[in-house]
Amino acid sequence: MTLLDGKAAAAELRGRVKERAAAYEAAHGRKPGLAVVMIGEDPASQIYVRNKTKACEEAGIRHFTRFLPATVSQKEAEGVVEGLAADENVHGILVQLPLPRGLDGGALLAKIPPEKDVDGFSALNIGKLSAGEEGTVACTPLGIMRLLERYEIPIEGKRAVVIGRSNIVGKPMAMLLLNANATVTVCHSKTKGLAEICGEADILVAAAGRAKLVTADMVKEGAVVVDVGMNRGEDGKLCGDVDFAGVEKKASYLTPVPGGVGPMTVAALLENTVAAAERSAR
Ligand code: GUN
Repeated sequence: MTLLDGKAAAAELRGRVKERAAAYEAAHGRKPGLAVVMIGEDPASQIYVRNKTKACEEAGIRHFTRFLPATVSQKEAEGVVEGLAADENVHGILVQLPLPRGLDGGALLAKIPPEKDVDGFSALNIGKLSAGEEGTVACTPLGIMRLLERYEIPIEGKRAVVIGRSNIVGKPMAMLLLNANATVTVCHSKTKGLAEICGEADILVAAAGRAKLVTADMVKEGAVVVDVGMNRGEDGKLCGDVDFAGVEKKASYLTPVPGGVGPMTVAALLENTVAAAERSAR
């Protein structure tokens, strides 16, 4: 089994992004800019936001982080996003999810112009992905594709199974694999016969948010297994959706948690931000 080392692959990708950011700055006299809007105090989100801003600094991307209290009104939050939408120093806007109760996420995200939508959550970008057209793709699925590319893992003609149908990971992941000519099955909490379906997968992406859901008996010998899970185990330790100790005996490639998909998500966000800046200059 070969570890899919997201930390190393992300460092390489961040290096390429840094070169593009420097070239953009040399040509346009300002850095690419990313605005992160963090509402409330969700502890996991706070860590993600800190990782994102730190990665921006290292890549030569200017960041504008806005911290808003959980009690912020819908109108105020939308006003902040509208301000960032109008700011020419800001090329990408990301509203960190999940949002505190009481806010209308759909209405808030709709204030992000599609060209600044570095999360790929807008209707336009989702539509482009579905149509197989070039657009901005959600960071976690994009990061996973970059990881598979880095290890030269073939996708065309393979059977891919995605567990999870979220708008952030499962659905765009399935679309990307389909666009890369895999035969794709999407499983979810109501799926019957999950183990049998997973057992057919050459490429298995677990994004269900359930600790150790994928066990060795569900995995085909030689499968490529990507673990998107970020769960807190009973022992308080971070663990994925895949039972690593069991599955590593059957998989040909496997992502660790942490150090697999997580770093690729951040690197993909930086790539999307620089790409948005480059597009804005055209
Ligand atoms: N929360 C967890 N993952 C993500 C992501 O990719 N984008 C945003 N905006 N929020 C998240």
